Amino acid sequence: MLATDIDGATAGAAAAGGVEKRAYVKQIFSEIAPRYDLLNHLLSMNIDRAWRREAIAALGIERDPGGAYLDLCAGTLDVAAEIVRSPRFRGFVVGADFAEPMLRAGERKVAAGRIAPVAADAVDLPIASSAFAGAIVAFGIRNVAGLDAALREARRVIAPGGRFVILEFSTPRAWLLRTLYQAYFTRVLPLIGGLVSGHRTAYRYLPQSVANFPAEEELAARMRSAGFVEVRWARLSFGIAAIHVGERPLRLT
Ligand SMILES: C[S@@+](CC[C@H](N)C(=O)[O-])C[C@H]1O[C@@H](n2cnc3c(N)ncnc32)[C@H](O)[C@@H]1O
Repeated sequence: MLATDIDGATAGAAAAGGVEKRAYVKQIFSEIAPRYDLLNHLLSMNIDRAWRREAIAALGIERDPGGAYLDLCAGTLDVAAEIVRSPRFRGFVVGADFAEPMLRAGERKVAAGRIAPVAADAVDLPIASSAFAGAIVAFGIRNVAGLDAALREARRVIAPGGRFVILEFSTPRAWLLRTLYQAYFTRVLPLIGGLVSGHRTAYRYLPQSVANFPAEEELAARMRSAGFVEVRWARLSFGIAAIHVGERPLRLT
């Protein structure tokens, strides 16, 4: 069944982690891939670029500028491209995503020899343990069917002492902002997203997936349960998004 045939109720069930979330998510991102970048920057009024830069700063690549880094749920490789643009960065980035059309849509960002796109599922990465100096996921972890498994898998592939950074949408606490944000997210965004992408349900899934994602405190607790230490988080743009950072302990556990 095409995602364009999936009704809003199914989008809601998938967002809640229910029926076929993995297949549904893979399908919608494969279908919206050609318009993803345009819609991302349009719908966020370009704030997403500043958020990604802030998340990359939290990764601390200056601690190992020649290292290998993982851009998890890399999509069209915006984060990977931003990392390799960092002054003094001499390493390379693996961009892993299970929707190959998303990786293909980002192909023009692949700098010679410095970004390696890999088709892979975040819960079962075909990557050796401790392979990366650090890993980052931007607007991806909320979509993964199996949050805790993905957190454990991220921890496995990060070397001891390396950081894992999560940039994700959140929900503002202040009543007025939350009301405006929810109106934008549930009414304006699905309308524009549907018109530009030609996809009826993908941009209805987005607000539902954000509503179903754990709040900052809970995500931090789940990172700790997955084995990360020094877990901290900060809200961005009055709580519209948040950055979480955790570290793989130095002692091999
Ligand atoms: C909203 S996009 C984010 C893309 C990119 N990181 C960015 O900053 O624009 C979410 C991405 O997560 C990917 N994704 C979702 N679940 C995944 C999984 N289990 N394994 C790998 N990629 C996954 C989707 O295919 C999609 O490309």
